[in-house]
Amino acid sequence: MTDGDAELEARLAEQEVFEPPAEFVEQANVSDPEIYEEFEENWPECWENAADLLDWESDYDQVLDDSNPPFYEWFTNGDLNASANCLDRHLAERGDEAAIEWVGEPVDEENRTYTYAELHREVNEFAAALRDQGVEEDDVVTLYMPMIPELPVAMLACARIGAPHSVVFAGFSADALATRMNSADSEYLVTTNGYYRRGSPLDHLEKANEGLDDVEQETTTVVVDRLGPNGDDFGHELGPDQIDYDDLVAAHEGATVEPVTRDAEDMLFLMYTSGTTGKPKGVKHTTGGYLSWAAWTSQAVLDIKPEDTYFCSADIGWITGHSYIVYGPLALGTTTMMYEGTPDHPDRDRLWQIIDDYDATQLYTAPTAIRAFMKWGSEYPEQHDLSSLRLLGTVGEPINPRAWKWYYKHIGDESCPVVDTWWQTETGGMMITTLPGVKDMKPGSAGPPLPGLDVDIVDTEGEEVSPGEAGYLTVQKPWPGMLRTLYNNDERYIEEYWAEYSDVDSDDPDDWVYFPEDGAKIDEDGYITVLGRVDDVINVSGHRLGTMEIESAIVGVEGVAEAAVVGGDHDIKGEAVYTYVTTEDGYEPSDDLRARITEGVEDAIGPIARPEEIVFTPDLPKTRSGKIMRRLLENIADGKELGNTSTLRNPEIVEEIQQKAQD
Ligand code: PRX
Repeated sequence: MTDGDAELEARLAEQEVFEPPAEFVEQANVSDPEIYEEFEENWPECWENAADLLDWESDYDQVLDDSNPPFYEWFTNGDLNASANCLDRHLAERGDEAAIEWVGEPVDEENRTYTYAELHREVNEFAAALRDQGVEEDDVVTLYMPMIPELPVAMLACARIGAPHSVVFAGFSADALATRMNSADSEYLVTTNGYYRRGSPLDHLEKANEGLDDVEQETTTVVVDRLGPNGDDFGHELGPDQIDYDDLVAAHEGATVEPVTRDAEDMLFLMYTSGTTGKPKGVKHTTGGYLSWAAWTSQAVLDIKPEDTYFCSADIGWITGHSYIVYGPLALGTTTMMYEGTPDHPDRDRLWQIIDDYDATQLYTAPTAIRAFMKWGSEYPEQHDLSSLRLLGTVGEPINPRAWKWYYKHIGDESCPVVDTWWQTETGGMMITTLPGVKDMKPGSAGPPLPGLDVDIVDTEGEEVSPGEAGYLTVQKPWPGMLRTLYNNDERYIEEYWAEYSDVDSDDPDDWVYFPEDGAKIDEDGYITVLGRVDDVINVSGHRLGTMEIESAIVGVEGVAEAAVVGGDHDIKGEAVYTYVTTEDGYEPSDDLRARITEGVEDAIGPIARPEEIVFTPDLPKTRSGKIMRRLLENIADGKELGNTSTLRNPEIVEEIQQKAQD
C-alpha cells in the first residue's frame, strides 16, 4: 500500500455519508428528488409509472383494488404477456442486440450470446414443445436447473403459454425438489444432466431422478444436455418419460407460439422459500404487478438502459435472479449476463475478468461475495480494467460498512454509487434502498424506502419507535410487486405476513400491515438499517434457511434425540448453521454420527445448509415450559456474554455446552 492509499483508506474509514457521483447523476434514469413527494401525493396512481414500462394488450381499469385486504389486486382487468414484454416488443429495434451473454464456467469453452431474435426463436420453439407435451395454461412447470441459458428460455416459454414456473435452486437436494413438486402438484420438470463446478462436471440428473422417485403424480421430464461427452461417465440413459431438450427444440424448429393473454393478476410464477415451519412456502407472484415492479426497480435503482451490459451474479434459482437477471432486465430490453460458475474458478479474478471482457456496466451481487473478495485481496480486481462499471449493488443480507467501502473503492473506483437493496422473495423486488441518482449513501444502511412505499419501524404494539431504537420493520401500504398469497394456502398467508400487526377482521386496508419478520432501526434522515430476521429463519450467504427444516432433517438421523439449530456469526457467510444435538439412549456422540447428521442435512436441503459446527450435549437449555432457548444457543455460538440463565429449567447445562462448543 502506498502512502496515498493509506490516506485514502483512513479517510474512507471515517466517512459516513457519500454523495452520488455527479457524472452518474447527470445520466441517471431517475434524478429528480421531487419523485418522493410526487409519489406520496399521487398514491396509488403513481404506480402507473411502473405499469407504463410494459406493453399491455388491454388497459387495466383500476391501479389498485384494495376492497378485500390483504388480497390486493393491481392493474385490475389489464391483459398482458410477460414473454411478449421481455422479447417480442424489443425485436424491431433490438432484435440483433444481445439479450443474454452467457459465460460458462470452463474457460476453454465457447461462451454463448443470444440476441433478442435468437432468444425469441428458442423460446417459441420450446413453448411449442411444452405444449406438445401437454402443458396447458396454469399448469405448474418445475425448473430444476443451474445457471445455463436454457433456464431463462424455459421460464419465458412457460410465461408465453401461461404456465407458471416453479424454479428450484439446483443446489437443493432431491428431497427438496420432491417436496416442491408435490406441493405444487407439478407434472412437468425441466432439468439437465449436469453442470460445471470448479472445473469438474457435476452430476445433476441423478439428484433429479432421485427426487422424481418421491413425486406422487405422473411426470414428464425434459433434460438439457449441458455436459455432452463430459457427462458420459455418469452413465445416464433417459427414462421413458424423459425427453432430450435439443431433440424437442429441433422437432419444433421455426415454430411460433402466440403469447397467451394473461390477466394482470394471473400467476406468473411460484417460488418456494423457507419459513418458520418445516414446510417451505409457495410464494405466488403475478404477471402485471410483479413484472411492473421488476421493470420499474430495474430502471430506477439499477439504472438499466437498453445499451447496458448488466451483470447480476446471483443464481436464477433465487428470487434475485428471477427479478434482476431475467424479468426486470429483459423487460427493459437490455443485455443481461449470466455466469455459470463460482467466482474463484479458475482463479479469484473470474468476475473481474468477465466484467473486463464484456465491459459490464453494473454489478449486482451479495455481501457474502463482497466479503470473500475483500479477504482474497484487491490485487485480483486490480489486474483488470473495471472502468466500464457505472453502478454497484448488493442484496441478501446486511452489509457491514467496511465491506461496503471496500466495494465502493476497489470495484467502483469511488465513481459508482452503491445501492444496498433490502427486499425479499415475497416483495418481488427492491423496497428499501437509495435511488442512486438522488440520494446520499450511508454505508451499513440500506436507505429510505423507495418512493410510493410506506415503511415504519415499530415496537411490539405497532407504535413507531424513535430514531436509533431497534424495532420491527413493517410495510404499511401495499405495492404492485407484493406476493398475492401462499400457493393454495390463504390462511397461512395471513398468519405469516399480516396477523402480527393487522386487525384481521377489518375490511379497511388501513388496518392491514405487512410484516416481513425483520428487525430494523431508522435514523433522523429516515435511513433504515436492517438488523436481520426476528423469526427462526437464518441467512447463510444471503440464502434463507428455516431452522425448523434443518432440525427436522437432523432428528430424522438415527441416534439423534433432539436438535436445535441457530445462526451464528460468520466472517464470510454472515451467518452459519450451528447445531446442538442430544443423542438417543444407546447412542454416543461420535464422528460417524456427526458425518451422518451432515449427510442428513445435505440430503434434506442441500450443501448450503451444511452445519458449520455440531455440538453434542446431554441436554438442550430449556425454559420451565420446555421451550428450547435458541437465543442462548446463538450467544454461545457467537461467544457472547450469556446474561441471566436463571429462568432455565436446567441452567447447569449452559456451562457444559459452552465448554463443548469451545473444544
Ligand atoms: O432478512 C432480510 C435479508 O434477506 C431476507 C429475504 O431473503 P430472501 O427472500 O431469500 O431474498 C433475498 C434476496 C432479496 C430479508 O427478510 N435481506 C435481504 N436484503 C437485505 C437483507 N438484509 C439486510 N440488508 C439487505 N440489503
